[in-house]
Amino acid sequence: MTPSDLESAPRGSERAARVFLIGPMGSGKSTVGRALASRLGFDFLDSDKVIEDRTGVDIPYIFEREGEAGFRQREARIIEELSMLPRLVLATGGGAILDAGTRQHLAARGTVVYLEATVEQQLRRTRGSTHRPLLQTEDPRGRLEQLMTVRAPLYQSLADLTVRTSRRKVACMVEDITTWLLANGRVS
Ligand code: S3P
Repeated sequence: MTPSDLESAPRGSERAARVFLIGPMGSGKSTVGRALASRLGFDFLDSDKVIEDRTGVDIPYIFEREGEAGFRQREARIIEELSMLPRLVLATGGGAILDAGTRQHLAARGTVVYLEATVEQQLRRTRGSTHRPLLQTEDPRGRLEQLMTVRAPLYQSLADLTVRTSRRKVACMVEDITTWLLANGRVS
C-alpha cells in the first residue's frame, strides 16, 4: 500500500490504524507510547528520535544551528510522513501541535490522545534534562507555565481522548486508553 492509498482510504479504517500522543514535555508520551504500542501490537515511533536518527545530530544541536523555527519545519515534515504509517503509535514533541498542518494531519489520520500533566509533574520529570533546549533557562517553571498557556487550548481542541497522567501507573493509563479505543471502534 502506498502513502496515497492510505490517504484515500475511508476515514474510519484510516483512523483506526494509528494513535498519536500529544502533550507537554514530561507528560510521559514516550513511556506510555511504547507500552501502548506493545499492548496493541502496533509499532512505536517518537518523532524527536526519528529526527535525531535521520539528521545524525541531537535536538539541542538543531536548535543551535537552525533555531526553533528550523526545528519546527523538520518536525512538521517528519510528522507529515510518519502519520501515514499503518498500525503505529506515534509520540510527538511537546510543540508539534503549534503547526497548523501537523494538527490537520493528526486529526485526519488517527486517534489523538492528549497526556495531560500538571506543570509540577512536568518540572519533576524534566528536572536535570539537558536535551530540551526550551528548558535551558533560569526559570523552567515559568517557561513551562508560559508554554502551557499557549499550548493547552491546542492540546485540548485536538484531543479525541484526554488522559490525566499525574501519579498514575503507566499500565493503568495503557488499559484506559486501550479500553476507550476498543469501545470507540478505533482498534479491533
Ligand atoms: C519541545 C519538546 C521536546 C522536543 C523539543 C521541543 C517543545 O519533545 O521536541 O525539545 O517545544 O515542547 P518532548 O515533548 O518529547 O520532550
